[in-house]
Amino acid sequence: MDAEISPSFQANPLGFLWKFCKSGFIMTKSLFQARAYRRKRQLILYLASFSILSGIFLYSQSSAFSTVHRAYINQSSYRFGSLGIPFTQGPYAIAIFLGTEFDAEQSDDDETDRYFIGARTLVYQLLHAPSTRLTSPVSVVVLATEGVRESKRQRLRLDGATVIDIERLQHSVNIDVPFYHEVFDKLRAFDPSVMPFEKVAVLDADMVITRPLDLLFQDMNTTQFPLNTNSTNLPADLPELPDSYALAATPDIPGREPVFPPDVDNTPGRDYFNAGIMVSSPNDKLFQYYIALLNRPELFGHWLPEQDLLNVAHSWKGPMPWRQLNLSWHLMSPNEADFNAGMAILHCKYWQFGGDPCHKTAIARRWQMQGYWEGREGK
Ligand SMILES: *[C@@H]1O[C@H](CO)[C@@H](O)[C@H](O)[C@H]1NC(C)=O
Ligand SMILES: *[C@@H]1O[C@H](CO)[C@@H](O)[C@H](O)[C@H]1NC(C)=O
Ligand SMILES: *[C@@H]1O[C@H](CO)[C@@H](O)[C@H](O)[C@H]1NC(C)=O
Ligand SMILES: *[C@@H]1O[C@H](CO)[C@@H](O)[C@H](O)[C@H]1NC(C)=O
Repeated sequence: MDAEISPSFQANPLGFLWKFCKSGFIMTKSLFQARAYRRKRQLILYLASFSILSGIFLYSQSSAFSTVHRAYINQSSYRFGSLGIPFTQGPYAIAIFLGTEFDAEQSDDDETDRYFIGARTLVYQLLHAPSTRLTSPVSVVVLATEGVRESKRQRLRLDGATVIDIERLQHSVNIDVPFYHEVFDKLRAFDPSVMPFEKVAVLDADMVITRPLDLLFQDMNTTQFPLNTNSTNLPADLPELPDSYALAATPDIPGREPVFPPDVDNTPGRDYFNAGIMVSSPNDKLFQYYIALLNRPELFGHWLPEQDLLNVAHSWKGPMPWRQLNLSWHLMSPNEADFNAGMAILHCKYWQFGGDPCHKTAIARRWQMQGYWEGREGK
């Protein structure tokens, strides 16, 4: 697995700026004290060294800023994962999964990749938009599969995300829908060598948010729970389970009445969760367990590959039952009642414009993102 990141990351822009201004001030002071301005040659020398230093500073910052994306939150707040990838200091991360645009032609513009634009919109909302950006240091990571074009990765880095190339997970599952060919790679979000965090929220790229997500990590069902040792529902030949685990999500119950909160307790199928947003604690034993399950395709359905696998691993009848997030965070197919109740994550594809408030919000955020960057980059 290779992580690409500019070495200038380690630069500390504000610290550097402060030292730079201080030496500039001392230099100017000594210039006047020595009445050096009367001596033309010395003045030229001072000005020349000042310009050279300015040049070096600006150059170093232009490349540093593309990766030191969270510098404005906390200057000394970076740490390095085992792959040498820098993350924002803090125990939590949001990971956005981005797969290869499966039907792209070589000549297609990056803009035609809706999931790429969706990921950019989320990154913009998480890091920059005043009403939705994170208020605490949470790492914003894009997990890009092998086929994602370099130009897209580069753009997402300029947007402020940490982009990680994730290695393909080998499997023999027959996936009929081409669009789903890479979704098992989403399991990498639970690999602690890729995501060394206490909690990781994994988001699909076809959603927008309406408020900051910091408090998602405080939802009590995102904490680790001990195994339900009463259950022996899974085959004994799978690897050992961890001592504790976390998996919080929301039920996949489309076609609800437009009422919030919905009466999920009396809705059939409420024990099946949607994998569009999940909060977990990456753990090697748990990850190896998922991989073992991946090699036992007879144990899970394949219609929605990774979602079906995880629903088997975290079945309510098994040893690691998934737990429900507060429903005001997310529900599949949000309706007007969800929207009016202030649902935080709207699982709406901006390109499937339906005229309802959720899709209106999604398309508005998509273009807000575009406008933000065009304005900021002077295009
Ligand atoms: C910055 O991060 C460090 C390390 O996590 C922390 O100790 C410090 O309090 C933070 N500073 C601010 C201003 O948030
Ligand atoms: C296990 O079963 C016992 C007895 O039926 C019950 O009291 C206990 O709450 C169960 N534990 C869990 C974690 O479900
Ligand atoms: C936590 O999850 C359990 C099991 O899904 C659910 O019954 C409970 O209501 C959830 N708690 C909260 C506070 O949402
Ligand atoms: C879910 O969140 C809403 C809004 O923050 C809150 O009013 C409600 O009490 C929460 N429900 C549970 C079960 O914690």
